[in-house]
Amino acid sequence: KIIPAIMSGGAGARLWPVSRETHPKPFIRLADGKSLLQHAFLRAAALPDVAEVLTITNRELFFKTEDEYRELAVPQLECTYLLEPMGRDTAAAGAIVSLHVQKTYGDDAIIALFPADHMIRDLGAFRAAAVKAIALADAGRLVTFGIAPQYPETGYGYIEADGEDVIRFVEKPDLARAREYLASGRFYWNSGMFCFSAGTMTRLMEEHCPDILEQSRKSLLAAKQSRVASGTRIDLNAEAFSQVPKKSIDYAVLEKAGNIAVVGCDIGWSDIGSWNALADLTEADDHGNRTNGDAVLIDVENCYIQSSDRLVGAVGVKDLVIVDSADALLVAHKDEAQNVKKLFSKLKDSG
Ligand code: GDD
Ligand code: MG
Repeated sequence: KIIPAIMSGGAGARLWPVSRETHPKPFIRLADGKSLLQHAFLRAAALPDVAEVLTITNRELFFKTEDEYRELAVPQLECTYLLEPMGRDTAAAGAIVSLHVQKTYGDDAIIALFPADHMIRDLGAFRAAAVKAIALADAGRLVTFGIAPQYPETGYGYIEADGEDVIRFVEKPDLARAREYLASGRFYWNSGMFCFSAGTMTRLMEEHCPDILEQSRKSLLAAKQSRVASGTRIDLNAEAFSQVPKKSIDYAVLEKAGNIAVVGCDIGWSDIGSWNALADLTEADDHGNRTNGDAVLIDVENCYIQSSDRLVGAVGVKDLVIVDSADALLVAHKDEAQNVKKLFSKLKDSG
């Protein structure tokens, strides 16, 4: 049995104003009308032998998440929602998913843990990579999906590989090391997707982050379960969950574990880390402009323009990112797309 689990949370500061705390990055809609979360669900549902799809997210996002899935109308696929009272980062999410699957399906059930904040363009190649990963996970390995690095990004994990064996995993290196890794030709970027059996992950967590595993176990044992239209909702116990140490699975497990495997893949992966990356998913017109929503452009070059309810008009500008939403408007220079997150922090500080 394969149990895909989608992790959805986080604020997505670089995609302000569309990404907020109550509307995080997975809910961002692409030009095809589907959200990143919906794409993640469809990819998960299309894997072979899928028993059900798990989603681990904040309880505040439950109704929104269920609506997104319902819109896709994938019939008769059982959904389980593991709902967090607060964010405790991805090690906690991985622990909860693994413990839940272990209890329901046993040690040998294979979990495909997927983030909901990236895009994959080549679904055939993705499926082939997933099939390879499932076989390796079946043999007891913790499996990562490696992407050929393009520039020294410091926001990703790096995987040093010798064939399919991982020599080391380094989460978010500084720029000097990222440059060194890129130049060496021996590293992949970590895509953030993982595949493992329930038994493998709980054993690894027992060894490397027993506090995270134990506290997660308590919050799952004391959880409240109920039926919902699309499946089962499991509300984790808040008191226990609040005491789970906040750490990402990359630092808590991947940097420490041995016997990790990597499946190198060329799947058209994009983390959509900024508006520029999102823009790249839309076709450009003859003037290098990309639009998502209604826009009228005169003498405009090399801009990304996104609107929701209103029409956006632009005249005589170039190299801009313009994103309109119901209650906020972003205007930024394309070269400054990474700095949009500063707006997010500034707004947060000022309440
Ligand atoms: N349920 C839940 N709870 N989900 C969470 C939480 C949480 O507390 N925090 C983050 N997530 C979700 C995010 O929505 C995203 O889909 C996924 O888990 C990964 O978390 P990020 O916070 O986006 O991680 P990252 O982007 O900094 O780093 C990870 O992804 C990179 C590739 O995009 C790492 O795995 C890196 O090594 C990797 O390169
Ligand atoms: Mg991310």
